[in-house]
Amino acid sequence: TKPINCEPLKELVRTVPDFPKPGILFYDITTVLKDKTGFAQLIDAFASYYIGKEIDLVLAIEARGFIFGPALAYRLNAGFVPVRKPKKLPSKTARVSYDLEYGTDSLEIHLDAIQPGQRVVIVDDLLATGGTMQATVQLVRQLGGEIAGLGFAIELDFLKGRDKFKEYDVLSLLHYD
Ligand code: PRP
Repeated sequence: TKPINCEPLKELVRTVPDFPKPGILFYDITTVLKDKTGFAQLIDAFASYYIGKEIDLVLAIEARGFIFGPALAYRLNAGFVPVRKPKKLPSKTARVSYDLEYGTDSLEIHLDAIQPGQRVVIVDDLLATGGTMQATVQLVRQLGGEIAGLGFAIELDFLKGRDKFKEYDVLSLLHYD
């Protein structure tokens, strides 16, 4: 499948220099989301790429993945599964830890969130280093899910996060270098 061209939406992305730290250029998608056609185009682009691929579940990563995951799940007639920061989920969980620039972070998923063999798409707002998605991929594999795709609204190409996912179908709607 060829994804819908979302490049025109870059006009709606706000760039914020020195956020959250000096030297970082932040790509702010809130200015796309509040635009009714902008938001619809992002969801449509994800949906048209995954439709017909027999997706059972859409997983999304707290917090900004939650903007896209449920809307996409609804469009695909799939279930939605949240992957959350530690100690937020009430029932039994699997947890994975991953390295940050300074220190580590963890993510959790309910143990019964995925049945073995279910086809899963994982979505998040941003592919930077890929550490967050890599940890989520580990959780899905641990539960026996089949990863049908990894979807991002934005990919920072220069960080080469994509190299961590050579064996997967990676879709990014907007690219920045
Ligand atoms: C941001 C973003 C991705 C992740 C990408 O999340 O929403 O989840 O970083 O970075 P990586 O590819 O280098 O792992 P953040 O940790 O800021 O959490 P938030 O969504 O809760 O704000």
